[in-house]
Parts: sequence; structure tokens; C-alpha cells
Amino acid sequence: MQKYVIEPSPPLHGEVKISGAKNSALPIMAATLLTSENCTISNIPQLLDTQNMRILLEFLGAEIESFVSKNSIKIVCKNPKNDVSNYDLVNKLRASILVCGPLLARTGKIKIPMPGGCQIGTRPINLHLKGFAALGAKITQGNGYIEARARKLIGTQIYLDFPSVGATENLIMAATLAEGNTTLENAATEPEIIDLAAFLNKLGASIHGAGTDTIKIVGKKSLSGANYKIIADRVEAGTLMIAAAITRGNVTLTDIIPEHLKPVTAKMRESGIDIVEGKTTIQVDATQKIKAADIKTLPFPGFPTDMQAPFTALLAVSDGTSVVIETIFENRFMHIPELRRMGASIKIDGRTAIIEGIKSLNGAIVRATDLRAGASLVIAGLAANNQTEVLDCEHIQRGYVNLEKKLTSLGASVILK
Ligand code: EPZ
Repeated sequence: MQKYVIEPSPPLHGEVKISGAKNSALPIMAATLLTSENCTISNIPQLLDTQNMRILLEFLGAEIESFVSKNSIKIVCKNPKNDVSNYDLVNKLRASILVCGPLLARTGKIKIPMPGGCQIGTRPINLHLKGFAALGAKITQGNGYIEARARKLIGTQIYLDFPSVGATENLIMAATLAEGNTTLENAATEPEIIDLAAFLNKLGASIHGAGTDTIKIVGKKSLSGANYKIIADRVEAGTLMIAAAITRGNVTLTDIIPEHLKPVTAKMRESGIDIVEGKTTIQVDATQKIKAADIKTLPFPGFPTDMQAPFTALLAVSDGTSVVIETIFENRFMHIPELRRMGASIKIDGRTAIIEGIKSLNGAIVRATDLRAGASLVIAGLAANNQTEVLDCEHIQRGYVNLEKKLTSLGASVILK
């Protein structure tokens, strides 16, 4: 396993280009299974997760060419397989579940291993299955597999008990080829949903209301091909904003949509950090003292759960007491015991963490447990008063393209070993 070796960092400064969004690329890559025509997708982040999605799509019969220069790939899947019972493949990538909607809609059947949980939670898929059943699929489960069959999906009204991002994505994709109209209510409103809907509409789908909690899909007989560019990664952007802040730096992020960072920008301004938003840029100027702030993670446009761990590292060295409540996942505080080993003063009570800001952290050897917890430890290492090693940094590389190079280009010393 690899590690990041991080030296105490001077104030970060300069400009950094944000990569394409992992959580947009994964559903959009899966969505190409809905059509038999060519799709060219650009701005795909070169990550372990997108590489594993590519392997899964090829296993399902897709032909994929990649053009590394523009981080783009050309995908065509003329006759998709619908039996994904390759446990190893599916187990490597939680987002494998996103091939279900497209395959059920395109072939009338899907067989897939029941996805396991992960470090941050049990990650159930009941809302996905409930939606497929509402569209007319017959669902059977046994021996660790799920099977869904439907001669034809029939459009209907679906109310999501929780605005699940993945369930919203899977059901939008399934409904694009259903007979008749589907309305999703209490749908997720994350920017990645808007990106997926925009891609599907370029394929000839008819989706209205993406980005709101009510999404209408008019079923089509078939879809065409399209060229499409993925939006920038708002979680990578937010993570780098916090790295700039914790080092009291002055950094400009480029190629992003500031609107997507609204909840993070608001919280950082509350902490006394100056943020200037341009059309496709955000400038963070954190020369002032950083004040404590309270956070409660919520579905978009609330504070994003993926930013909770990185922000907790900032609050650990802020001025005052902060309260962080994690409402989305049941086990997303695994960075906290590691931050404590760096001297942070944080108490956990169920889904609430109480953080007493301290002056500075001590460098230590710490371990990444998942990608955002790992990012939090890298951020903490920048602010520590001596060297930090973050072990098992493969977790971090699942979600961040060349994080060490981006931070080093801004003046940090982060070496991948
Ligand atoms: C997506 O996961 C993201 N992953 C996650 O990012 C992100 O944290 C999450 O949305 C929330 O924003 C991708 O987009 C690939 P959910 P997803 O379904 O779709 C419960 C990262 O760090 N739930 O919105 O799995 C679930 O247990 C990753 O990049 C059900 O109960 O998230 C959780 O508590 C981590 N039943 C909550 O909803 C279901 O059928 C949110 O899950 C589905 C979900």
C-alpha cells in the first residue's frame, strides 16, 4: 500500500485547475448502456473508480477507446450483457449498481451481486429496487444476488423515501426507455443529477426538472449517441479550498461552477475566510484567523456529506468550539480517531462531533480509511508542526486526481511513496 509523506506547509498560493467530477462520470458512463450508438465523454477524471467502471462496461460488452489527452473516452455498446454476476468486479466499485437502471431498461433484465456495505455505512439499495418494482420489474433475491426482470418498464409516479443520489440516477436512467411518463418525487437535487439529465437529453431523452425534487421523464423507444463534457468535481474543489484555508493561503481554483460549491462557500465565509467567486473560478484568501462554525450535513443544497471530513480538519485548528452533525451516513467519523492522534480535541457522541479548536496539530503516522477521511488527514498534515504520513492512500486516489501534484504546485510538500 502507498502513503503520502506531508511536510508542514507554508501558505498555499497560486492557481489550480479542477478535474472532472467522479460522481458525475460514473453515472454518465453507466448511462451509455442505454443506447447502441457512439458516445464520446470528455473531462473524465483518470481515477481507480472510473477505470473500474470502464472494466465493468467492457465486461458487459461495451467497446471503449480512450483518448488520454482530453481525458475522454468513446463508448459503444451494441449488445449489452445483463448478467453482472462477477462478484470481484462489482465489489471493487460501489457505483456498479448504476448499471442496473440502464440494463433493465435496455434488455429487460439485470442480475448483479448484492453490493456490500463499505467503511462509511451499510449502503442499502432498497430505494433503487422499490423504484424498479414500481416501474413493473419483478425483483428476486437469493444467494447474494439480485435479479430484476421486466418485459417492458411502464412509466409511473415514484416517491423516494429519501432523496438518494444513486436511486434518483438509476430510476431516471430506467425511466428514459419506459412506456409512458414517470415522475420522481423527493428526488435528489445534486449537481451530478443535472449533469446526468443533460447528458441523457443529448441522447434524445426527455427529462425535465433535474435539480429540483420533482423530475419528469417521458419514456422513449430508443436513444441516440452524443458527445458530452463532464462537469468539474465540486468535492475536489471544496477539498482544495480547505487546504488553502488551513494554511492561511491565497489560492484560485479554475474550471469550476461556483454555484455547485454554494454550501461550502457559505460555511467558509462564516469561518471568516474571504471567498471571491468568478464565472468559472473561486478565489480563497484565508489570511485572517479561522473562526469555529457548526455543520450539519444534508442532501444538496445542504452542506455536503463528502465535505464533512475535510472541513472537520479545518475546524480542529479553528478558534472556538464547533459542532458537526453527520446525518447522511451512519459511520462517517473515522477520520476523527486519526485526527486525535495528531492532537485534535474532538469528542464523538453518536452522529455528533464536538470540536475544540487548538493552535496546531502534531504530525503523526495516520491511516486513510475512506477517500474523504483520507483527504481530511492530508489537509491536517499541511497544518501540522512536523511531518505526517498518511498510509493506505489508495483510498484517496479513488476520488482525487493527482492530489499530491496539485498541492505541490501550490507550494506544499506532499510526496507519494
Ligand atoms: C452518492 O452515493 C455519492 N457517490 C457519495 O459520494 C455521496 O456521499 C452520496 O451520494 C451522498 O451525496 C456517487 O455518486 C458515486 P445516497 P449514494 O444513495 O448514491 C441511504 C464519495 O465520497 N440509502 O444518496 O450511494 C444511504 O444508506 C461518495 O465520493 C438508503 O437507505 O448515496 C445513505 O445513508 C461517498 N437506501 C443515504 O441514503 C437506498 O436505496 C444517502 O445515500 C439508497 C440510499
